[in-house]
Amino acid sequence: MSDADTQTMTIGDKQYPVRHGSVGPAVTDIRKLYAQTGMFTYDPGFTSTASCESTLTYIDGDEGVLLHRGYPIGQLAEQSSFMEVAYLLLNHELPSAAELDKFTYTISRHTMLHEQLAQFYRGFRRDAHPMAIMCGVVGALSAFYHDSTDIADPHQRMIASHRLIAKMPTIAAMAYKYSVGQPFLYPDNSLSYTGNFLRMTFGVPAEPYEVNPVVERALDRIFILHADHEQNASTSTVRLAGSSGANPFACIAAGIACLWGPAHGGANEAALNMLREIGTPDRIPEYIARAKDKNDPFRLMGFGHRVYKNYDPRATVMQKTVREVFDSLGVSDPVFETALQLEEIALKDEYFAEKKLFPNVDFYSGVILSAIGFPTTMFTALFALARTVGWVAQWNEMISDPEQKIGRPRQLYTGPTQRDYVPVGER
Ligand code: SDX
Repeated sequence: MSDADTQTMTIGDKQYPVRHGSVGPAVTDIRKLYAQTGMFTYDPGFTSTASCESTLTYIDGDEGVLLHRGYPIGQLAEQSSFMEVAYLLLNHELPSAAELDKFTYTISRHTMLHEQLAQFYRGFRRDAHPMAIMCGVVGALSAFYHDSTDIADPHQRMIASHRLIAKMPTIAAMAYKYSVGQPFLYPDNSLSYTGNFLRMTFGVPAEPYEVNPVVERALDRIFILHADHEQNASTSTVRLAGSSGANPFACIAAGIACLWGPAHGGANEAALNMLREIGTPDRIPEYIARAKDKNDPFRLMGFGHRVYKNYDPRATVMQKTVREVFDSLGVSDPVFETALQLEEIALKDEYFAEKKLFPNVDFYSGVILSAIGFPTTMFTALFALARTVGWVAQWNEMISDPEQKIGRPRQLYTGPTQRDYVPVGER
C-alpha cells in the first residue's frame, strides 16, 4: 500500500508511482493499471479520482480553505474585483494596474452580441427558463464567431475566452429582459463589468439608470465567490467536452447545461424556494425532520458539499455580504432570518454534524440576489455568468496540458453476456 510520503503504491505485484502536488492529497498514477492488471478502478461520482493536474484552484474541504492561484477567497472577495480575479485565473498572477486596465478594456470591447443573435431569443417562449436560453444562445455563438474556434491557435483561444467572459452578462441580461417583455439594452462600456450587467438587466430605454455602488460591489463580490471551484461537475463537463476538440462556445454551453442541475448550480434557486416554502422559523423542525428521513427525497438545498466537510468559506462571505447590503440599503427579508435560524438548528443536529453537512455557497446567495431584484429563475444564470471565468481558465489549462487526451471512462459491466438473437415469432 502507500502513504503520502512514499513514491510508489503497490497494487497486487505491481508498483504505481505516487505523485505529490504543492499542497493537498498525493495521487497514485494508475494510467498503466488496466494494461498491467486487466482491471479498472471503480469510482462512480469520482469521489477519489483526480482527473487532471491543475494550478488554478485549491480546496481543503476539511479546513474550509479555497485558494485561487494561492490567494484565499476571503481576501479576494474583500479586496479584489471580479475582473482582477478573472485576470488572475487566466494569467496565473494578479495584474499590475496597467495590465488590469488593458484587460478590462479588452473585455469591454467584446460585450456586444452579433445583432442577429438578438433574433435568436424570439424563438423562445417568454416563460422559458433563462438557463434554457443560456444553453441555446451560448452554444449558438459558435455559429457566429468562426474566427475564434480553432483551438490549436493560442490567439483564437484567447479571443474566444475574452468573448465568452464579455458576452455572458449581455446574454444573461437579455434572457431576463426577454422574460419580462422589456427591450434589450446595449452594453454601456463606460460602466464597470458588473455595473454594465446591472444596467442591461434593470435599466430601461425610457430613463437613465444609476448603478447603486453598494449593489454593484456586492454583486461583483458574489461573482468572485462563484468564479471557479476546482473540478466540480460543470467544470469537468467543460473539460470532457473540450477533450474531444469541441469549440470553446460548445464546451461552455455544455457546462451551463450541467450547472443547471439542482444538485449543483441550480441549488441557489432551489434553496430560496425552499426557504420561502418553510416561511416562518416555527416550521424549520418539520423540514429538518424531512431532510433526515431516508424515505423522503427532500434535502436541505444549499447544505452539504462533496468536498467541504466544514463551512464553505464562500458561504461565510455571502452571509456577511447579505448583512452589509441589507444594512446599507435599509432593507430586510424574513427569509434571511429563517435561513439564519435554519443554519443554527441544523448545525446543532447530530445528523448534520455526523454527515458534516454545512451551508454551501448556494445557501445565502438567493437571499441577496432576491433583494437586488433578480427573480429566482435568474440565480443559476448569474452563477453561470460568473463561473464562465473558471470554465474558460480550466478549458485553456486542459488544452495546453500535454498529458491531456480525450476523456473516455470505462465501466463495470453487469448486463447480459453474449446470447443469440431470437426471431419475434419464436419469443
Ligand atoms: C455546488 O463540487 C462543487 O464544487 C460544487 C460547487 C461549485 O462551486 O461548483 O460548490 C457548487 O454545487 C454546491 C452544492 C449545491 N447543492 C446543494 O446544495 C444540493 C443539496 N446538497 C446535496 O444534494 C449534496 O450535499 C451534494 C450534491 C452537494 C453533495 O453530494 P455528495 O457529496 O454526493 O454526498 P451524498 O449525496 O452522498 O450525501 C452524503 C450523505 C447522504 O446520506 P447517506 O446516504 O450517507 O445516509 O449526506 C446526506 C445524503 O443523504 N446529505 C444530505 C444533504 N446533502 C447530503 N441530507 C440532507 N440534506 C442535504 N442537503
